Amino acid sequence: KVGGKCPFAGDTVGGAAGSEPQNDHWWPNRLEVELLHQNPREANPQDPDFDYAESFKKLDLEALKKDIKELLVSSVDWWPSDYGNYGPQMIRMAWHSAGTYRIADGRGGAGEAMQRFAPINSWWDNGNVDKSRRLLWPIKQKYGDAISWADLIVLTGNCSLEIMNFPTYGFAGGRIDAWEPDSLTYWGPESWYGKKIEDAPRGPFEGHPDQMVNRDLRWSGTNGEDDYDLEAPLAASNSNLIYVDPEGSAKKGIPEDSARDIRITFGRMAMNDEETVALIAGGHAFGKSHGMTPPDEIGYAPEGAPMESQGLGWHNPRGKGNAEDTMTNGIEGSWISNPTMWDNEYLENLFKYEWEQTRSPAGALQWQPVDKDARRTPDAHLEGVDHPLMMMTSDIALKVDPSYRKICERFLEDFDYFTEAFSKAWYKLTHRDMGPRARYLGSEVPEKEFMWQDPIPAVDFELVNADDVKHLKAKILDSGLTVSELAGTAWASASTFRTSDKRGGADGARIRLDPQKNWPVNNPSTLDKVLTTLAGIKNDFDGAQSGKKISQADLIVLAGCAAVEKAAKDAGVDIHVPFTPGRNDATDEQTDNQAFRWLEPVTDGFRNFHRSDINYNIAPERAFMDRAALLGLSAPEWTAIVGGLRVLDVNTEGHYKQHGVFTDKPGVLSNDFFLNLTSTDFEWKKVDEDGMEFTLDDRKSGETKFKATRCDLIFGANSQLRQLSEFYAQKGGQEKLVRDFVAAWNKVMMHDRFDVADKNSAA
Ligand code: HEM
Repeated sequence: KVGGKCPFAGDTVGGAAGSEPQNDHWWPNRLEVELLHQNPREANPQDPDFDYAESFKKLDLEALKKDIKELLVSSVDWWPSDYGNYGPQMIRMAWHSAGTYRIADGRGGAGEAMQRFAPINSWWDNGNVDKSRRLLWPIKQKYGDAISWADLIVLTGNCSLEIMNFPTYGFAGGRIDAWEPDSLTYWGPESWYGKKIEDAPRGPFEGHPDQMVNRDLRWSGTNGEDDYDLEAPLAASNSNLIYVDPEGSAKKGIPEDSARDIRITFGRMAMNDEETVALIAGGHAFGKSHGMTPPDEIGYAPEGAPMESQGLGWHNPRGKGNAEDTMTNGIEGSWISNPTMWDNEYLENLFKYEWEQTRSPAGALQWQPVDKDARRTPDAHLEGVDHPLMMMTSDIALKVDPSYRKICERFLEDFDYFTEAFSKAWYKLTHRDMGPRARYLGSEVPEKEFMWQDPIPAVDFELVNADDVKHLKAKILDSGLTVSELAGTAWASASTFRTSDKRGGADGARIRLDPQKNWPVNNPSTLDKVLTTLAGIKNDFDGAQSGKKISQADLIVLAGCAAVEKAAKDAGVDIHVPFTPGRNDATDEQTDNQAFRWLEPVTDGFRNFHRSDINYNIAPERAFMDRAALLGLSAPEWTAIVGGLRVLDVNTEGHYKQHGVFTDKPGVLSNDFFLNLTSTDFEWKKVDEDGMEFTLDDRKSGETKFKATRCDLIFGANSQLRQLSEFYAQKGGQEKLVRDFVAAWNKVMMHDRFDVADKNSAA
């Protein structure tokens, strides 16, 4: 110390890595391009060559299941099991892990065990799920990398059902854990206490039930009216919830309103009415709800909990804080008299009794039988004590909604049918986000294939070889179709893929089928022309062979490869675009039209397509980045792809067809997009009020040279993207762009090829 002061640090340390304020605070509208690099290799301690599929294959699944089942019936003192069985709380853990899935963008779901990280680990609805995972830790510790958390959570749900006599439909492993929280997924507009972000206090309050009261920010219209709807891509009725508020829409306790919320939210999870009833009635055949302490007395959720809590949250100060004093979501009691056995009592009770509203010790609105002689349910811990049965408003909803009621009645009459329906719906719920069956691992994968798995027939013909590929490429380029048409079609086919739920992609060639072939973004009439020409080439080829074939799916991708090679050559760069045959063609019967509708882009910056009949609460470039993220593109890949697609001239026909095509040589894979974007010879002028359209005017002549949208100019305006644009505009940029474009192109074409081990090893 010099003069009493530390010469290096001063006497006060005011901040450190990440301390606020940071960029997002100063510039809340900044496009956080760094979000494209979620869950990077560096965050993962496993060896770079660690292969989870290989590791899982060596796992003794039988032994693991035996260990789990033993643990489920071995109560520990720090969190004693209800009725001596952890099964029900583990089913809830697995359901909540999978139940975040939403079909609109395929995000959420059990796939990466995001339940371990904020914000999901701290949602009010996940109350005490932290205890369930901690109870499982000894098993995870014992088996290590042979089982991911994501797989373990789902498998434990299955084991729980099985020990309570429920026949599960199957289990597939193959989910790969994330190693960091996801900072990209949009979970809704509300912040603490339901306030708008800018009005809300910051602090460890996230997850408080008061937040759930204000839900108006995500809903529009009035419950019960036709205009009632939930903002896309959300699938939960309130922040902090997996689906709906058990106390009813806006906690009003109205079963009819609750039914409408259930239908919309479960629909967003891609569940129909029968699956929805099967899941709720099936799930609530087990366990109980916990509501012994008013929420205001409960401690912070895990992410805000004190250090000594070591990741466990919701400290309950009353009584023992667990067992008969447990407080989880606030409702208290059980639906059934035997909560650890699969039977039809939930539906029996729901229909047999009249129910009246009451409140739990925690103050939550719930229902109990009017009939005082009704069946009762034993206390989960206290010998000789019992309680009235309980239903939630969301349970009564199944009885009052006419369609749900019919399904309940069928289930009540035919328990076997109900059992099978729940079994299949549970399998779908917990595997929905895994993508194609090629990803499924283990001895418990069912033979049967379901529509929700987007089936594609197995390849039962000889694949093309290098000579065939050469011959076909020549045919394609000789067909009279332009580079733009060929590359545009291949892109349209492959770019539906989403890394979230692994749906979409070029395999199956569903671009030939409804609904995809009619999507405006796909230029239906041009698409039809291209597909007809390619079908002719396929027929000629197949006809001339014995047993060897090329699928339409492969031919569409090959057409893209040929077009990109030609476009690169015309730019002076010789490059081979990889092509790996092996795709096959799906049929209409194998295509769930409704489930594919969700894949249609309403805005797609890659092709400057922007539907004008939709209300966007976000800037187009943010929606664009969302699509780039779903395609798994890094910032450089995104930049290279956009620069390339623009000069290849693949924009959707219509108003924005020429926007961003900053070149005089469309169809040539030049770096002109970047040369013109970064050129100081131009000035950029806003054309419309909204700042959607711009012109690039020659500074000297004043002449408008090019037109652009926000999705073009963001590559010069955003400081991170600008660096990448300059990179592709600088010396050596032309060749580098071609190489990077081709690599990113191949990545997109190969995304859905889970049958190929090394996707970069193509011929
Ligand atoms: C428990 C709500 C659907 C399985 C609970 C609890 C609530 C709830 C509030 C009590 C939590 C606590 O305080 O301990 C809802 C709502 C649903 C729904 C509003 C949709 C409308 C489902 C589904 C499943 C399921 C689809 C599974 C297929 C369970 C189980 C429990 C439970 C097993 C008992 C947990 C235990 O004993 O600790 N549910 N749930 N629920 N839920 Fe649901």
